[in-house]
Amino acid sequence: MAVRTIVVDGDPVLRQRAQEVDPKELKTEEFKTLLDDMVETMYHANGVGIAAPQIGVSRRIFIAESAQGPIALINPVFTKKSWKTLNGEEGCLSVPGKFDKVRRCKSVTIEGLTAAGAKISFTAENFFARILQHEMDHLDGYLYVDRVKEQKSKRGKE
Ligand code: NI
Repeated sequence: MAVRTIVVDGDPVLRQRAQEVDPKELKTEEFKTLLDDMVETMYHANGVGIAAPQIGVSRRIFIAESAQGPIALINPVFTKKSWKTLNGEEGCLSVPGKFDKVRRCKSVTIEGLTAAGAKISFTAENFFARILQHEMDHLDGYLYVDRVKEQKSKRGKE
């Protein structure tokens, strides 16, 4: 396991849509090392989530800290998002030293593959739901600062 370098805002990899993972890759040593390194890098940086593009790997993988510890989600998609939203403070390992309020769905249902290649689907609420939405944004080339900007300009028009 190794701590990898976290790329910061300005690096084009953070603005790309990350590519799907072929489930066959999950069994490879290289893939297992990638997941281990993501967890180690996240903890080293005191984060609660990390997406593969943040270490320069443009693939649809993220780690999120859950009540049961870190979980890996591969090729994740939201199958449900609540109408109800919550405003809360976020930061990002790729935007060091900054924090701002972002409005996110209060609850989301997500499905994807686990590190072992099993299909998983669950519903998350509140802070954990926020982490999932923040990390999913990374896979689509968005940073939370983009959401802040969007939401501020929307409020300005109201
Ligand atoms: Ni982030």
